Amino acid sequence: MVTGSGDLTAQLSGFAASGHLILPGFLPADLVARLTPEVDHWVDSGLRQRSIDAALRPAEVAPPERVELDLEAHGELAVFPPLLDLLSHAALLGPSLVFHYLHSDRRPANGPGKSWHHDYEQRPQRHRDAPMVHALPYPHGLRPSLGPLAVLPGSHRTVAEKDALAHHGTAVLPGERVIGALPAGSTVILHSALFHTRRPPAPGAAAATAARYLIDASYCRTGGEPWPPVKPYWRQVLASGRRRGLGAEHRPGLFDAAPFTEYLP
Ligand SMILES: [Fe+2]
Repeated sequence: MVTGSGDLTAQLSGFAASGHLILPGFLPADLVARLTPEVDHWVDSGLRQRSIDAALRPAEVAPPERVELDLEAHGELAVFPPLLDLLSHAALLGPSLVFHYLHSDRRPANGPGKSWHHDYEQRPQRHRDAPMVHALPYPHGLRPSLGPLAVLPGSHRTVAEKDALAHHGTAVLPGERVIGALPAGSTVILHSALFHTRRPPAPGAAAATAARYLIDASYCRTGGEPWPPVKPYWRQVLASGRRRGLGAEHRPGLFDAAPFTEYLP
C-alpha cells in the first residue's frame, strides 16, 4: 500500500504544481478480482453503451435500469476507504467532498487513442477556485502494448476549455509525463483540469492481446459554487449510492445531490 509512504507524502506536497499522483498497486487483489467480471458484464451486456446513449440522446433512450454503482465491487470501489482518506487530504479535496460520477470501461486491444483533453466540469471554463479530481484505477495495470496515459503536469492551473489542446491529437507535447507501465490495481489521481491523453501503442510495441480496463471515478470539493452534473440521470446515480448505503457510516453526505446544479445538455 502506498498510502502513508514517503513517496506519497512527496507526491502530495507536489500535487498543487503537478496535478497528479501515481499510486502503484493501490487496489487490493481481491477487489481487482471482483471488479474484472463486473466490467466485463457492464460492457458485454450493453449496459455501458446504453448508459452513454441515454446521456447523449435522453429523448430517445431511457436511462439504464442499473448504473455502475449498483454493481457490488464498483460501489465498493467508489467508497474504498484508502481512496476517500487520500482524497480528503488538504492537498486534494479536503474533508468536504462529494461523489460526482463513475464510469467503467474495457477498451479493445490495440484500440485507438483519445486526444488531449481535460475533464473539469465548468461551463464556460472560468476559474479553478475549487478542485475536482478524477481517480483512474487500472484494474489490470498498464503496459506499453496497451497504450500509455500521458499527462501535462501543471496544465490544470491554466483556465482552458476541455478540448483546447485537441488539435494536437495524441502527439507528444513538451513537458509531458508518460505513464506506460503500472502493476495491477494501480490508480492515477488527476486534478480534473489536468490535460491528458490516451495514446495508442507505440509502433513496434508488442501487439496487445489483452484489453485495457479502466474505471474513472470523479469527486468534487463542496462548499463553493455548485457543480454541473454530467448526465441527465445523475440523480439516479447518486440515489444508487444512498440506497446501497455506500460509505454511509463514515461519509454520510458523499452522495448528496445538493452540491450540484440542474443538468444542462
Ligand atoms: Fe479524460
